[in-house]
Amino acid sequence: MCRSPPIAQLRQIALMAATLAILLSLTAIAQQLTQHAKYRSIDGWGNNLVHPEWGAANTPFVRLQVPTVGYSNTTSQLTGSDRPTPRNISLALMATNYPDKRRYTEAATSDMLTYAGEDGIDETRICELLSPSVPTISMLFLLVLLRTIVAGQFFDHDLDKTKDGNGTRDAAPIPIPKGDPFYDPKGVGNLTMPFTRSAYVQPNVSSYRVPINLITAFIDGSLVYGSDVRVTDALRAHTGGKLRVAVVNESKDAAMGSMLPLVGSVNISATYMANDANRVPGGALRAAGDVRGNVDPPVLALQTLWVREHNRLASELAAQQPDWDDEKLFQEARKWNIAYMQRVCFYEYIPALGITLPLYRGYNASVDPSIDVFFSTVAYRYGHSEVTDIILRVDDEGNEIPEGHLLLSQAYFNPTVSLSAGIEPVLRGLTVRVQGFVEPRFSQAVQNFLFGLPGVRPFLISIRREGPSSIVKQSNFFEVLRLS
Ligand SMILES: *[C@@H]1O[C@H](CO)[C@@H](O)[C@H](O)[C@H]1NC(C)=O
Ligand SMILES: *[C@@H]1O[C@H](CO)[C@@H](O)[C@H](O)[C@H]1NC(C)=O
Ligand SMILES: *[C@@H]1O[C@H](CO)[C@@H](O)[C@H](O)[C@H]1NC(C)=O
Ligand SMILES: *[C@@H]1O[C@H](CO)[C@@H](O)[C@H](O)[C@H]1NC(C)=O
Ligand SMILES: *[C@@H]1O[C@H](CO)[C@@H](O)[C@H](O)[C@H]1NC(C)=O
Ligand SMILES: *[C@@H]1O[C@H](CO)[C@@H](O)[C@H](O)[C@H]1NC(C)=O
Ligand SMILES: *[C@@H]1O[C@H](CO)[C@@H](O)[C@H](O)[C@H]1NC(C)=O
Ligand SMILES: *[C@@H]1O[C@H](CO)[C@@H](O)[C@H](O)[C@H]1NC(C)=O
Repeated sequence: MCRSPPIAQLRQIALMAATLAILLSLTAIAQQLTQHAKYRSIDGWGNNLVHPEWGAANTPFVRLQVPTVGYSNTTSQLTGSDRPTPRNISLALMATNYPDKRRYTEAATSDMLTYAGEDGIDETRICELLSPSVPTISMLFLLVLLRTIVAGQFFDHDLDKTKDGNGTRDAAPIPIPKGDPFYDPKGVGNLTMPFTRSAYVQPNVSSYRVPINLITAFIDGSLVYGSDVRVTDALRAHTGGKLRVAVVNESKDAAMGSMLPLVGSVNISATYMANDANRVPGGALRAAGDVRGNVDPPVLALQTLWVREHNRLASELAAQQPDWDDEKLFQEARKWNIAYMQRVCFYEYIPALGITLPLYRGYNASVDPSIDVFFSTVAYRYGHSEVTDIILRVDDEGNEIPEGHLLLSQAYFNPTVSLSAGIEPVLRGLTVRVQGFVEPRFSQAVQNFLFGLPGVRPFLISIRREGPSSIVKQSNFFEVLRLS
């Protein structure tokens, strides 16, 4: 006769079964985590396992805890009715006399650069820097050039893009002072510039607006790969793990290397890429992960460079791992490309700004990586003051190329002009161009857009943006941060 197993034994079996079940489910979770952790999502979701939406595309910005002093107290009001209008501020700053015509800072520039006169050009120095031993674009070259403001713009385009509001509901035209030398020389007196406030969410009915970040808050190459998987799919070659590139005019461009594909040649809307200047049809813009990819020659050159680097990595990996399919090659090349970008950001760019990051203390799921409104709307716009009017284009002996340098105002949102001699002369130019000093003044092109492009005035928009986002006055913010 079979003895029934003692209760204790049953309990033990039950416990073992339960343990096994837990272990199995843990293994399942672990597998999921491994799968999850293997590659970043395109839209940033799930980066933080506890708060998967943190830092994802299309989520609201965050705000540091700041006092309500200085905020608009209604959702429909621009901040601070006691403040002068943006154009008044712009004109006042422009009229200020500065000791130097244009000063340059060395602190935030490459060690290789020295002050080189009004245009930042010193022929001898350029020849030293660009000896034939530095003939092409290498990652090392990149590390050097990324110490300039262009690096700031590049990383900004990876971190935040504020969603525009409804052109009717959120219109907030900027008044032009009567007699404005550029916009109202005839003294008409009631002119305005069109401006649309940001789209927003309202955390609470009586609370302030919180704008929305359209892209991922991480340094994750979203400006190369997009923040939306449909865009990524359109940009992928779907073979060999590569991204799509184009040689637009075989006879002319082949020597310039591969370029970003034309918008008209990929499966994205003709209006996907920003076209602020409307100088070329939407389909003639270059397709990039970030909608601002065509804004100026340096940005376009860097967008292109990182796509080339992705494809170089994919080729290298394919040679090493013949059994990897397109998806595996794409994700691995993307992973390494992102790692390079992060390396450049944390070990080159941030130290070049004079910032020492605290040591990494391990993962902390409570840290919200979303971009702060003050950072995106005010602080990180410091770089607009460093932009220079002339984009240098030099050959590998440091001389101006036959096609010449470019005026920022000509090349603005004009890829045909920006790429007319390829990206290499622009990248070489960046390494010899000393960036402008950070000061309350802007280059002519940035300040006025003198050259027949009404509607494009980044500086004014920067000032105006402080209002729409209900930004606390800077003085209050500095108090909060104990900077004053
Ligand atoms: C908003 O601010 C104005 C001026 O500071 C004040 O008079 C008004 O009472 C405030 N409204 C609310 C709802 O707090
Ligand atoms: C802007 O400047 C004009 C004169 O240039 C002045 O009349 C006007 O009051 C100013 N407006 C604001 C809001 O600062
Ligand atoms: C924009 O706002 C206007 C006015 O409030 C409204 O009629 C229109 O439907 C809105 N458009 C969109 C696309 O939301
Ligand atoms: C501006 O003023 C002129 C003449 O004073 C008038 O004809 C015009 O309608 C005004 N425009 C606006 C937008 O108020
Ligand atoms: C919304 O209001 C509630 C209740 O007053 C408050 O607890 C919460 O912190 C507010 N949320 C935000 C995002 O301001
Ligand atoms: C284009 O993209 C859309 C999604 O954005 C997709 O539904 C469609 O199948 C794509 N078309 C082609 C030809 O790949
Ligand atoms: C391509 O470039 C060559 C050399 O600049 C030029 O002669 C030719 O017309 C171009 N072709 C097209 C289709 O633009
Ligand atoms: C994790 O981050 C939160 C939010 O910044 C902070 O309050 C907490 O002290 C951090 N924990 C550790 C262990 O560093």
